[in-house]
Amino acid sequence: MNANATMQIVRSIAELQNILNTKQRDGRTVGFVPTMGFLHEGHLTLVKHARRDHDIVVMSIFVNPAQFGPGEDYEAYPRDEQRDAELASTAGVDYLFIPSVKEMYPHPSSIRILPGEQATRLCGASRPGHFDGVLKVLLKLFNIVDPDESYFGMKDAQQLAIIETFVRDFNLRTTISRVPTVREEDGLAKSSRNVRLEKSERNEASAINRALVAGKKRYYEGVPLQEVEKIVRKAIENETSGTIDYVTALAYPSLNEGFNQTEEVIIAAAVKFTSTRLIDNIIMSTIKDEKNV
Ligand code: PAF
Repeated sequence: MNANATMQIVRSIAELQNILNTKQRDGRTVGFVPTMGFLHEGHLTLVKHARRDHDIVVMSIFVNPAQFGPGEDYEAYPRDEQRDAELASTAGVDYLFIPSVKEMYPHPSSIRILPGEQATRLCGASRPGHFDGVLKVLLKLFNIVDPDESYFGMKDAQQLAIIETFVRDFNLRTTISRVPTVREEDGLAKSSRNVRLEKSERNEASAINRALVAGKKRYYEGVPLQEVEKIVRKAIENETSGTIDYVTALAYPSLNEGFNQTEEVIIAAAVKFTSTRLIDNIIMSTIKDEKNV
């Protein structure tokens, strides 16, 4: 693929709004890929979908301080603007929006968006306030870009479920597209945080996906979900030096603890390594009712 020679980097909200306002759009549709940068194939796959479906493709790169808690990796989050711009351009992005923190948050704002029940489990339990910050930045970005469709990866399945609820409950104009997780050859989910793994940890980390795949197989063999959780947990404990934050099965996308035939089931895992914490998940169709769980 050739670089998109016309890709424009935009740093100001006013300028981007001016470019994308309805009159300028003239009936053309906008596909939007919000990111925190340090792009990998997962992000580029989101762009591919947006490029296929829409006339104009906008990507944002913004490491959003509002979604990092005290002691989390905001400062250490990997950043490489030049490399990102090259990758985005090659993938076919038209406008790359890279605002500064001052541009996005010019004055302290005490208004918060509280995502509710869905955000109390999984990552929400160990990262209080994280999803408030995600919704805050996304509401701003959706208002700035006014996309027809926005693309998110299934690796962050909880984030995706919360965003879907947010967009539905607040009548936001964008539709949300789920895009399957892109993986390394050994099954490790692509993530900007993978570069922060030590070499031995990188080798072990593929065990997370293997454990989830094995769990799914056992579930389809009829093993109850509580047992499946234990099997996945044990496999990760045995095969990695990481510390398990959670291995949890929930209904998807409600993230309820009760299961029903209309929803899928997610087994989600989070594992802490020396300098980073990885998440992954697997989705399974519901074949059991609550009695079997
Ligand atoms: O998934 C991410 O990279 C971020 O949470 C998002 C959606 C770009 C909001 O900052």
